[in-house]
Amino acid sequence: MSKTIGIIGTGAIAEAVVIGLCNKADPPTKIILSPRNKQRAEQLAERFLNVEIASDNQAVVTGSDMVFLAVRPQIVDEVLKELSFAAEQRVVSFISGTSIKQLEVLIEPSKHIVRMIPLPAIARHEGPIILSPPSQEIAELFQEMGSLVQVEQEDQLETLCAVTGLMAPYFGLLNQCVEWLTTNGIDESKAFDFVGALFDALGRTPRGSTEKDFSTVASEHATPKGFNEQAFREFSKMGWYSNVSEVLDLLSLRLAGKAGFEDGVR
Ligand SMILES: NC(=O)c1ccc[n+]([C@@H]2O[C@H](COP(=O)([O-])OP(=O)(O)OC[C@H]3O[C@@H](n4cnc5c(N)ncnc54)[C@H](OP(=O)(O)O)[C@@H]3O)[C@@H](O)[C@H]2O)c1
Repeated sequence: MSKTIGIIGTGAIAEAVVIGLCNKADPPTKIILSPRNKQRAEQLAERFLNVEIASDNQAVVTGSDMVFLAVRPQIVDEVLKELSFAAEQRVVSFISGTSIKQLEVLIEPSKHIVRMIPLPAIARHEGPIILSPPSQEIAELFQEMGSLVQVEQEDQLETLCAVTGLMAPYFGLLNQCVEWLTTNGIDESKAFDFVGALFDALGRTPRGSTEKDFSTVASEHATPKGFNEQAFREFSKMGWYSNVSEVLDLLSLRLAGKAGFEDGVR
């Protein structure tokens, strides 16, 4: 049976989830959005017939069987303490770094809460979706929207979540390639298409691979004494790969509340 879904916080990730849900073969009957961000909420309501905008956050909660929390972590207490939830209401939190224990007191008397980390590619039904604790009901709702990774322990969700902090650095790498190409005489638009096509093909390489080992994949892409072997060796010498682990350690500490945004690796 299709449920009414309410979303508190109509930001970037809420938009991606709404698009992903509405483009399913069996979309939810109704999705109710909170009025902020007004412009984004209105665009979604215009685009999809099953999307509507509530008058305020409480109307989102009251009108929904399942509520997604998609506000920034800094305001979650302030937003939720104003709201009343029903005991049978399902709550799915997308909020990074805010634990189920912290949220449980704010959504009482509901005890049905899970955490999920969707990513922007969910709009295209691509990419991983992390869910903890595992839930058949939520898995069924999201199963065709990406690669669902369900983990028993909340700290495992946090550990996986740290790696999602590499999305902007990844595009930073692609941008650096484009800048280098344009500095060396390639038209910017051609450079963008070329770099996009190269990394798109690389990103798809693991699909269906039985060899679940990226060091083997790296070797397979490195002809002995070729450019790739040389680049891999030089980046290793420069500490590129160990730097990745250091940044992930920092993000992990931040997710555990033991470091802040201003902290750095050294
Ligand atoms: N972006 C991602 O890839 C991603 C992935 C997984 C999880 N998350 C998590 O999802 C949450 C949202 O992230 P985001 O990137 O979507 O942030 P965002 O784009 O800043 O969206 C947050 C939204 O909350 C709205 N808001 C502010 N105060 C509100 C209130 N009192 N009531 C209702 N809505 C309010 C904001 O509206 P205004 O614009 O009007 O201020 C904004 O549209 C965060 O906790 C983040 O950790 C994000």
